[in-house]
Amino acid sequence: MTEVEIKKILNGIEAEQASLPTRYLYDNLGGILFEAITELPKYNATRDELDIFREKLDRIAEVLPENACLIDLGAGSCRKAAHVIPSLQPSRYVAVDLPSDFFVQSVTSLENKFPDLIVNSLTVDFSNGFQVDLVRKLQGDSSSQEPLVYFYPGSTIGNFNPDDSMNFLKNLKADGILVGVDLIKSPEVLLDAYNDSLGVTAAFNRNALLHLNRDLGTNFNVDLWGHQAIYNDKQSRIEMHLVSLKDQIIESSHGEISFKKDQTIHTENSYKFTIESFSEILNKAGFNNLNSFVHSTNRYAMFTATKDL
Ligand code: AVI
Repeated sequence: MTEVEIKKILNGIEAEQASLPTRYLYDNLGGILFEAITELPKYNATRDELDIFREKLDRIAEVLPENACLIDLGAGSCRKAAHVIPSLQPSRYVAVDLPSDFFVQSVTSLENKFPDLIVNSLTVDFSNGFQVDLVRKLQGDSSSQEPLVYFYPGSTIGNFNPDDSMNFLKNLKADGILVGVDLIKSPEVLLDAYNDSLGVTAAFNRNALLHLNRDLGTNFNVDLWGHQAIYNDKQSRIEMHLVSLKDQIIESSHGEISFKKDQTIHTENSYKFTIESFSEILNKAGFNNLNSFVHSTNRYAMFTATKDL
């Protein structure tokens, strides 16, 4: 990590409302904890998405380009890809995620499941935009025959703010997209999904500090930080924070950082959408031919859309 990057992260921690880049939630343990979250009784997004695949994948496959290069943004366990590949029948699958042993193992097991499919992986942070050249290199001579279809499930797009998600989508060199979004519902239901009684989400959140200690040499003691998830109604987003349980001083390579009791570090936003609000984002980003596939409970939706390159 460069000195500039370290300074940027430390500036975020020292700001009046301290914050950490959301990617700190994801390291090897973070990936495993997120998988555990998807099994929680009140975290429905993943299950709802799998229901949509089960019920509507044939129709989804009809409206997306065939023989595509399917680019899975934030592939993680590759579990969702394993559900859609038999219907979408891509000619190539490119799993994209941050580097971790968990991700490497996931890609290997997907390769074993689909021995006839060309499987590639890219370990990159795409939060500031996805570089299509990396895919073009993998495609080599096949690039003209393989339309680019992005698979962006899990409402991961909701971890960007709406302007950033629009810009991210706008900058994607895409022929098509299959993207999942969590829909606005009652604050109680939303809060239950991020405040589970087993404490898995709390562990996922607090683990960001261990990740930070490793990267930056800070000495955060996770025992002194609590998990907080709140619903920001005005912005239609769940916010995750880490709450300092007492006055404390953290040491870093650039000096000391003090926190007062109850001061928080903002670690994640998770935006929630309506069909209209997400359609507007896709349209503004230059996508057209929108189709939405809504879960029977109205809790979650998948969108397909295409772009003229
Ligand atoms: C990955 N992402 C869409 C999840 C979400 O719901 O925003 C991450 C997560 N954070 C807390 N629980 C799950």
